[in-house]
Amino acid sequence: MEVIRLSSSNAPLSLVVLISGRGSNLGAIVHQCQQHRIPAKISTVISNNPDAPGLRIAQQAGIAIRVIDHREYANRDEYDLALMKAIDETAPGLVVMAGFMRILSANFVRHYASRLINIHPSLLPNLRGLNTHARALAAGVERHGASVHFVTEELDAGPIIVQAAVPVLEADTPESLAQRVLEQEHRIYPLAISWFAQGRLQIHGDQVLLDGKQQPEQGLGTAKKKAYSPQPLSS
Ligand code: GRF
Repeated sequence: MEVIRLSSSNAPLSLVVLISGRGSNLGAIVHQCQQHRIPAKISTVISNNPDAPGLRIAQQAGIAIRVIDHREYANRDEYDLALMKAIDETAPGLVVMAGFMRILSANFVRHYASRLINIHPSLLPNLRGLNTHARALAAGVERHGASVHFVTEELDAGPIIVQAAVPVLEADTPESLAQRVLEQEHRIYPLAISWFAQGRLQIHGDQVLLDGKQQPEQGLGTAKKKAYSPQPLSS
C-alpha cells in the first residue's frame, strides 16, 4: 500500500484558503494562527464570490485577498486553471477549502494531491453533498457532525483526518443543528491544520495516520457511539 508522508519544515506552513461565503471557518483558522496555536501563516484568501463576507475577515486580519469570479470563465477547466495559477503564485504548503462552493476538476485535485483539504458538515461517509443538516433531521439520525478530509476526485470522499459528532436533539431545526455542528467545525479545522503543519499526518491508502497511528475517532459516522471532543489546542 502506498504511504504518503507529508513533510514539514521548520518554517511556518504557508496556507491558501478558498472561500465562497460567510468565512466563519476562515475566522477560526485566522484566530488560531494569530494566537500561534498553528505553526502556519495564511498568505492569501481566494474567493470565487466577490461579495463573500469572509473576504472582510481576511482584510481585517491583514491577509491578501483575491477574487477569481467563476462567472467570468467559459467553463470549469478554464476557471480551475486560473485558480491554480493564482494559488501557485503563493507556493502554498497546504490549500484549505473553507466553504468553497465549487466542484473541482480532476486536473485541479490531482495537482494538489495530499495538500488540499476540505471541511464537510456531516459524519462522512454519511450525507455527502448539500443540505446535510436538513437531511440528517429527515433521516432521523441520532448523531450528526463534521469531517475534515483530504480532497480526492470523488466528491466528499477523501481520507478523513478528524471528525466531531454532536447529538441530534428532538427540538432541532436545520439551523440549530447547523449551529451546533459549526462550533465543532471551528475546533476541528484548526486542529487538523495544526497536525498537518507539524508534519504529524500520513496518508496510508484511504486512511490518515496521526503520529503513525490510526485514530479511534475516525469512522465515527458509521461505527462509534461516543462523541469525539478534541482537546483544545494548547498555546
Ligand atoms: C461550513 O458548514 C462547511 O462545513 C461547509 O460550508 C460551510 C462554510 O461556512 N463546507 P463558513 O463560510 O466557514 O462560515
